[in-house]
Amino acid sequence: MVENLFEQNLLWAVLAAVFWAYAARGARTLATRRTARSLRRRARLGLVLVSVSLLVLALRVALAAGLAAAAGWRAAADFVLFAAVPLSVAGLAVAALTVPAYVRLGRLARDGDPAPQAGPAPAGRRAEPVPAGATRTAGQGAGALAADGTAADGTAGTTAAGPAVAGTGPWPPYPGGPGGPDGPAAPGPALRAAAADPRLVVPVRICFAVALVAGVLTLHPPTPTYTGPFVLELALFAAVAGGLLLLQQRTRADLADTAWTRPSRARRLIRPITLLTCVALFSTAGCGLMWQDSKLPDTLGGAQHAHKLDLGGGPAAGHTAARDVATLTGPKDERPARRITLTATTRTMTLKSGEKIEALAFNGTLPGPELRLVRGELTEVVLINQNVEDGVTVHWHGVDVPNAEDGVAGVTQDAVKPGERHVYRFKAPRAGTFWYHSHQQSSTVVTRGLFGALVVDEPGARPQGVDRTVVAHAWPIADSEGRPDEQQDGGGPPRGGGGALSGQNGMGGLLRTALGDSTKPRTETVAPGTPVRLRLVNADNCPRTYSLAGTPFKVAALDGNETNAPSDLTNRRLRVAGGGRLDVTYVQPAAPVRLTVIGDANASSASHGFEGCGEDGAYGAGRVETASLTLAPAGNTTPPPAPVDGPLFDPLHYGSPADTPFGPASHYDREFHLVLGNSVGFFDGRPMMLWTVNNAVYPDIPALLVKEGDLVKVTFVNRSLDDHPMHLHGHRLLVLSRDGERATGSPWWTDTLNVAPGERYEVAFRADNPGVWMDHCHNLDHARDGMVLHLTYDGVTSPYHSGRASGNQPE
Ligand code: C2O
Ligand code: CU
Repeated sequence: MVENLFEQNLLWAVLAAVFWAYAARGARTLATRRTARSLRRRARLGLVLVSVSLLVLALRVALAAGLAAAAGWRAAADFVLFAAVPLSVAGLAVAALTVPAYVRLGRLARDGDPAPQAGPAPAGRRAEPVPAGATRTAGQGAGALAADGTAADGTAGTTAAGPAVAGTGPWPPYPGGPGGPDGPAAPGPALRAAAADPRLVVPVRICFAVALVAGVLTLHPPTPTYTGPFVLELALFAAVAGGLLLLQQRTRADLADTAWTRPSRARRLIRPITLLTCVALFSTAGCGLMWQDSKLPDTLGGAQHAHKLDLGGGPAAGHTAARDVATLTGPKDERPARRITLTATTRTMTLKSGEKIEALAFNGTLPGPELRLVRGELTEVVLINQNVEDGVTVHWHGVDVPNAEDGVAGVTQDAVKPGERHVYRFKAPRAGTFWYHSHQQSSTVVTRGLFGALVVDEPGARPQGVDRTVVAHAWPIADSEGRPDEQQDGGGPPRGGGGALSGQNGMGGLLRTALGDSTKPRTETVAPGTPVRLRLVNADNCPRTYSLAGTPFKVAALDGNETNAPSDLTNRRLRVAGGGRLDVTYVQPAAPVRLTVIGDANASSASHGFEGCGEDGAYGAGRVETASLTLAPAGNTTPPPAPVDGPLFDPLHYGSPADTPFGPASHYDREFHLVLGNSVGFFDGRPMMLWTVNNAVYPDIPALLVKEGDLVKVTFVNRSLDDHPMHLHGHRLLVLSRDGERATGSPWWTDTLNVAPGERYEVAFRADNPGVWMDHCHNLDHARDGMVLHLTYDGVTSPYHSGRASGNQPE
């Protein structure tokens, strides 16, 4: 709904500028019409145009107000301040001054010119022959004048078909007649002066200027705080209005002069051409500067933001002794309880279900091997890069490891080049469902396979019943000619042109959703009465919607955090953020239970383009992906149940409250506001629709500065056209509220929070893990295009560098 409002707002911003451009041009050229008749016709047309433009403007204002109401002030402040307010003022001026002036002018043109043109008519002014019924624009008129060779000497001319045209002298007694006030004669000075009334012209031109500026600011919003720019904008419009008024008064005086002559076409074109040239030069220069400015430097320090910090209302940096990221490691000397080797390779691989993939893989499997660790035990992982050319790292997504073990190229380590290795050592502080992936060029390598599931068990926990990790991923199928097999798997109708089951990725290959290593339906045998835990991992960019049909179930954990007193759910769809996890538990009934993915935006080409994950993340709604997992008792022949189509599960009020170390009423040491938006601009020299944080992209988004021990509140507001799964490394976030509504269920801890268009979340965390941490959108395409910032602890510096020259490109 809000996403739709954002789209509408963009559309009407552009339309308003176009409409007012026409209206302004019409108003300005009204007084210099060739004949009184065309003047009157134009006046009528002008009134219609102005009225329609007023409607467009009213709609734009209403949309801004609607956005403020629906998405909150923070999301809509600039639409209101920079568009709605000045547009309303200008629109009111048009309604109060221009519309009545048009009506008066129309009457005057019809009823008679009180002081008609007298004396000889100079060339081009009037009295040129007009073929009956011909509609002449000024340009055509000038051409026709030369073409038919009529002497412009002030005498009446004739044409074969047309009536004689009155020349000089008083108006004929009837309006609309050949020489009458509404006739084909040139308008007299009084009529001209009336048509040049500043009230007709100035408010309309101001409206155009406001609509233009508001349109540009909608596509490329200003950066808060807005007070300065807002006052500046109003002052600018006031000055422009004053200037236009003076100009128009002079024009009117000129036009009221009986000796006024209609300037030649060339002269009339001088002004608009100059104006257009100026605008073109100005915007080209502006774009050129933005383009230059957007180019990333060849190297960026890992803590590059040292000069650009968001203090969140807390004290400035410089109070803590300096520490180097590289020193913030896990235990160095302790004997690890577990040793794991991950070897990264690149080669063509085949999923269990048969599709070929130009893969990057850990240990030769797709996805990488599931790692099972024990909470509190020291794990040592040796990463070996066999032949992944651009390098590899491993980031333990959701596990709050010491900073130097976090695996971010250019921030916490250098990318591991082919033939090199790197050792990670850490103790997972919490049990739960996590995942790991390379954080070097993650937007491409994660798609191709450099990830796997990571489960941390409680020490001494005995596996109970079935405990299955289900990693969902849309794989780029290598054969671009390959059609998806036509095996329809129950469910909804095909959507879109690209086949019912798969989208296409940017390279023309197909994307197909798999659960684990299979894109096909799969059945496993589970005895009735067995407790089942399914750990859902979404290893993609867009939110993914699941159906678990055939049994009531509980949402046992969110992002690896157990829910408190979860209740049974039936007929609920489950949505997991890109990079997020969700555990469901149930007890196997006597009939089959089936897990399916519904309408996967991740397997749709649209998710790579402007449409993003689609309205409410439901792109491809109604489509059921082929991959599914059925758990059924042995020998059971009951057909698996159809996917549920119930409401979405909402964690905000699920389960029962429990104690949390902080909450809505706590005192926060720092509060940060992150507005996620769109802007038309450049990133690293490429023009694109930017995904911004506080109207900036990396590396211009100020880092959030904290001191160890700070209690921190972050407000996310999404005023963009796509979902943003916001992921903070090294910390878990407690959700306090959504859209002003308190979280009242089980404490909702998360590390990857999907913020949908129009949504506003308040989250909190304790700054208890010093370092330089990534805080980014886990739609990795957005991150690659600059939707990245850092959380920096006072005094911590990184010796690593990112950027082209450094070989480190975290996204
Ligand atoms: Cu899952 Cu910064 O990453
Ligand atoms: Cu995003």
